Amino acid sequence: MTILGISGSLREASFNTGLLRTASVIAPEGVAVTIASIRDIPLYDAEIDVDPQPAAVTALKHLIARADGVLIATPEYNYSYSGVLKNTIDWMTRGTTRPFIDKPVAVVGASPGNFGAVRAQTDLRRLMSSVSGMVLPRPELLVSNVKAKVNEHGIITDEATLTVYRTLLNNFAAFIKHAHMKG
Ligand SMILES: Cc1cc2nc3c(=O)[nH]c(=O)nc-3n(C[C@H](O)[C@H](O)[C@H](O)COP(=O)(O)O)c2cc1C
Repeated sequence: MTILGISGSLREASFNTGLLRTASVIAPEGVAVTIASIRDIPLYDAEIDVDPQPAAVTALKHLIARADGVLIATPEYNYSYSGVLKNTIDWMTRGTTRPFIDKPVAVVGASPGNFGAVRAQTDLRRLMSSVSGMVLPRPELLVSNVKAKVNEHGIITDEATLTVYRTLLNNFAAFIKHAHMKG
């Protein structure tokens, strides 16, 4: 089973990208997590939304379409998800292929503050439902005070957080299997 990780932060030392790297380390047996970059996705502009769409858009659409599920790690910017993430998701909903339709999606988030990007994650769940993704309902992974919970590579080391994250990834794998059975 393959899960594609998408981070809503572009910065190299992003804690949210670190959450995706953590998933690739602790994923259940038989689940491979790879990470896609959204750095080259252009700002959405209907004038460049022509056939063929920009190469970075087409490439990401293929990666999402090929994956069994998508794990999105979002930072919280001003109580919501990041603009670069919204811009990417908007592109994914235009053109003839719309890879989020019926795609299993799990949401996680981390912040250096006390709330673990909860407001961003709540908004992102609503957004992903609106684009017809199938959003894993629980558990929620709200990684607050993240600086104290990672090693120098941004990998989560906090045991309580890892326990919830393992449950989330196990649930997501089961959710994906169930989605395939129905589909
Ligand atoms: C424009 C901007 C707005 C932010 N707003 C919030 C916020 O509303 N809540 C919060 O917890 N952190 C906020 N932060 C702090 C981010 O959580 C912090 O920069 C975090 O490290 C970003 O995620 P990253 O490490 O994956 O890049 C904000 C940061 C930026 C740049």
